[in-house]
Amino acid sequence: MKKYCSLILASVLAFGCLTGCGSNQTAPASESGQAESQAVEEVTSGETESLDGAAEQVLEETESVLEEEVVEEEKSLKEFFLEHDMKVGTCLSPQMLTYPAANEILLAQFDSVTCENAMKPDFIISRKKSVDEGTIVVEFNKDMISMLDFAKENGLAVRGHTLIWHEQTPEWIFHEDFDKEKDLVSREVMLERMENYISQVFEKLTEAGYIDMFYAYDVVNEAYMENGTMRDTLWKQVVGDDYLWQAFYFADKYAPESIDLFYNDYNEQFKAGRLAKLPEELVAEDGHRLIDGIGLQAHLYTQDDLNNYLQAVKKIGATGVKLNITELDVGLGAYQNVLKDDEENLKAQGKFYYQLVEGIFKMVDAGEIEMNSLTFWGYIDSMSWRKEASPLLYDGELKPKYAYYGVLQDKERAGY
Ligand code: GLA
Repeated sequence: MKKYCSLILASVLAFGCLTGCGSNQTAPASESGQAESQAVEEVTSGETESLDGAAEQVLEETESVLEEEVVEEEKSLKEFFLEHDMKVGTCLSPQMLTYPAANEILLAQFDSVTCENAMKPDFIISRKKSVDEGTIVVEFNKDMISMLDFAKENGLAVRGHTLIWHEQTPEWIFHEDFDKEKDLVSREVMLERMENYISQVFEKLTEAGYIDMFYAYDVVNEAYMENGTMRDTLWKQVVGDDYLWQAFYFADKYAPESIDLFYNDYNEQFKAGRLAKLPEELVAEDGHRLIDGIGLQAHLYTQDDLNNYLQAVKKIGATGVKLNITELDVGLGAYQNVLKDDEENLKAQGKFYYQLVEGIFKMVDAGEIEMNSLTFWGYIDSMSWRKEASPLLYDGELKPKYAYYGVLQDKERAGY
């Protein structure tokens, strides 16, 4: 807004000079003030017809500069990402939903949301109903419903997160009679449970009228280790190494075509070689690909090797599947050495975000990768799961940080 005001003043002064300076070049300060207000009056009272050609030209030029400035000033993240055919999202928690000032930012800046926790297995599988019915039963919780209602009311797109994961998943789903004290079930029983679970999620989202908002779904989360081996999880132990294939097989069977099915992981820069093999492995018997995309969580630090990260993104994208950045946040410093949020470190963060988004846009615009969405894991530092590292775009007082301007590719205001 500041720039906008000073430009108005500049244009009024320029106009004042053209109309009044000729007859009043040596006017004292108080009189030149009068000349300015006279000029304003002339413009507002529609007496522009008397302007000579030169004045009109200056006015037109300043107006066009003004228009450009206003657009630049008011461009939101979502408008900016749309220019690259991308959605820009944030995770959403029940706390955020009850914070009106935060909602205002969300609705102004983002066009996609991911439930931070409410759609994870722990929160959507009912133990009581599963025991009663002898198979996994899905039941949506109040938080999830209020967040999806919020998304629906406000026309936000949704990423589903997540179906199969080793964390935030009830252990009892792997045991006989859903009782942790009893033995693990057989592969056959677990596959039946997996199918029931995945099919119900999509059926219930359809019944509840939410399904059309979903454009992507994380089918499996974090199945691999940094050394490329498969993580040893209960899904792997009970079903076997093909549990990933099975999960994608069922998701492909029950999800509507309109939802892209994603594998999602962290430390993707160290796992790129492994992740790049997934598209050729997750293929149905008839040859069609079961996976549509790979989700890059992007939980990064300002001292990470950005070049290395972008190379990994390029390598995974070169497989031809879609990419989404799914949980972006950039902490200050390094994993073992989190830095304080002083001016210097916050500027370094602004620069990191600038270069990261610049690198992504370059690859997207050149058609080197297909990425249709980038999601931040929140937008307010004080509400982040990594709040000690101040990794997001707004500070606790909801003021945009250098990081925000970095994302918007505004070098100057990014402190770069
Ligand atoms: C992982 C998960 C997310 C979330 C974060 C921590 O990245 O994919 O759902 O749990 O950890 O918030």
